[in-house]
Amino acid sequence: MKTIKFGLIAAAALGLAGLSQAQAQDVIKVGVIVPLTGPQAAAGQQIVAAMKLYQQFNGTKVGNKTIELVIKDDTAVPDVTRRLAQELIVNDKVAVLSGFGLTPLALAVGPVITQAKVPAVISVAATSMIVGTSPYFVRASFTLPQLTAPVAQWAIENGVKSAVTLVSDYGPGLDAAAAFKKRLEANGGKVVEELKAPLADPDFAPFLQRAKDLKPDAIFLFTPAPTAGALMKQVVDRGLPQSGIKILGTGDVTDDDQLNSMGDQVIGMITSYNYSAAHESPENKKFVEEFRKANNGRRPNALGLGGFDSLHAIYKAIEKTGGNTDGTKLIEAFKGLSWVSPRGPMSIDPETRDVVQNIYVRKVERKDGELYNVEFKTYENQKDPK
Ligand code: PHB
Repeated sequence: MKTIKFGLIAAAALGLAGLSQAQAQDVIKVGVIVPLTGPQAAAGQQIVAAMKLYQQFNGTKVGNKTIELVIKDDTAVPDVTRRLAQELIVNDKVAVLSGFGLTPLALAVGPVITQAKVPAVISVAATSMIVGTSPYFVRASFTLPQLTAPVAQWAIENGVKSAVTLVSDYGPGLDAAAAFKKRLEANGGKVVEELKAPLADPDFAPFLQRAKDLKPDAIFLFTPAPTAGALMKQVVDRGLPQSGIKILGTGDVTDDDQLNSMGDQVIGMITSYNYSAAHESPENKKFVEEFRKANNGRRPNALGLGGFDSLHAIYKAIEKTGGNTDGTKLIEAFKGLSWVSPRGPMSIDPETRDVVQNIYVRKVERKDGELYNVEFKTYENQKDPK
């Protein structure tokens, strides 16, 4: 009797296990690792909101597979990012990872994804060398050298002979300062001082005072978008806009998420970037309107859009493999993808797995009662200049 009962229970348990396994095979999990707390939280909030919007627009199905997002907060600490990546791969069996709100967070998962052969689509991290550190990285955001060359070109064409650079002291900041200097100096200009502020809890005031005292024609700024508000508050408080020094930067510093609270003093500031909420296209109109509707009027920024396009690339790669989640097949499927994003046309370079896209030169203007980065020049199909 006992054994029969046991046998029945075992059979039932096996049956259930079999069923849930079949169901599990219809689900493809995407692990999204982003900062949702701490000073970089805005990056994660933007990415998660935009990925949810992507699923609102496109549904959760690719063929007969259901795409399930598994979202984790790494608090912007690289060791946490690495541990979460391992857990998501081993325990949750995710087919792909995405997110990565800062360069060091992406770099921390490189060895993990290489060993596990699991692709990771970068939504933010923008230091040039990241994608070269693992054959399983794909980038849907931007690179700092890609962003910076057009604003340096604008500077040259608008009479800037001397400049000071002020950047956050880590990968993307160093990339941005180097790209600005290279382009300016190749055209007869001079970077007279290269200032670097710490990434964590920066006090920009002494650097801005030093820059002001040097009286250059222009100052070039970079800080990660979530801390742009703190930088621009100091720029305004130090009276930089009235000093006659042209204020330039990558679009991170006139972040769409915070631009309206920076005040009219930033009107006229010139930046170059891959995305503006004011970009004129039907795709962007829908993206901005629906993002605002779903997020209490909050405006999407390039970081959020990086999440939106990361998930698009993941959907398209899964579609290409016919739902096969083998990492080596998936990574091949990402190569050469191209589509029209709310930012404009973009693609994944089949050689480098890095993003190719238009970069726009923009000016802060007041439009329809709000501050916007208004695009006025386009550099088409820009690769990372490497
Ligand atoms: C980066 O850490 O690579 C990074 C983060 C935020 C940005 C740009 C670059 O806005």
